[in-house]
Amino acid sequence: MRKKIVAGNWKMNNDLSETEELISQLKLQMVKDPEATVMVAPSFTSLYPAFQALKDTPIVVAAQNMNAAKSGAYTGEVSALMLKSIGINTVILGHSERRAQFKESNEMLAEKVKTAIDNEMDVIFCFGEELNERKAGKHFDVVETQLKESLFQLPKSAWKNIILAYEPVWAIGTGETASPEQAQEIHAHVRSLLEKNVGKEVAENTSILYGGSVKPNNASEIFAKDDVDGGLIGGASLNAVDFVKIVNAF
Ligand code: G3P
Repeated sequence: MRKKIVAGNWKMNNDLSETEELISQLKLQMVKDPEATVMVAPSFTSLYPAFQALKDTPIVVAAQNMNAAKSGAYTGEVSALMLKSIGINTVILGHSERRAQFKESNEMLAEKVKTAIDNEMDVIFCFGEELNERKAGKHFDVVETQLKESLFQLPKSAWKNIILAYEPVWAIGTGETASPEQAQEIHAHVRSLLEKNVGKEVAENTSILYGGSVKPNNASEIFAKDDVDGGLIGGASLNAVDFVKIVNAF
């Protein structure tokens, strides 16, 4: 049975005091045993305080990025071992903002994913098409290439640590949420790609999250689709009441 997951990607928001305030609000708002696995992804500077504040709760703390190298001359970067040393065992990779702003290619992401798996970390792997690619009818090919070039070389055993997140770039931060049918169409396509390229068991057991303007008023409809296993939430994760409403939207 694949996991239902709601993860909050805080992006470059919340200094230390804002992190502490949001976490204390989350603790107040969160139901005792949510159906979904709940994750939050603060910025690097807040990871350790967030881990400390949440370690006695079921909420998982994830990083928003990681370098593929073990260590060395990578100014400004953070390694897998550094993340694990502060209790962080989950990392978001391939977010469209990093692909666009930091030129992260599918090949670079394949290396990052390998490093994460080699260090027994869980990966939330983001993929999704640009608006022009969807308008040109290329969205199926785009997501297939992203997955093939970054993930399909992995051994089957690695897939227990992979969470997929379909994030159409045109829906991120725009309020233009993909319709539940649009999300389901791509999620079902991705699940069929997994079955064809990795195998039926992996296809059936890999959680595929939707991300892109998920809000309390649209989450239930999206999460109700057969191949949607939860959400990767940006803006709405910065408000504890809204984020918990989305967590409870199954
Ligand atoms: O990683 C999640 C993010 O890209 C979605 O952002 O603000 O559209 O929920 P938002």
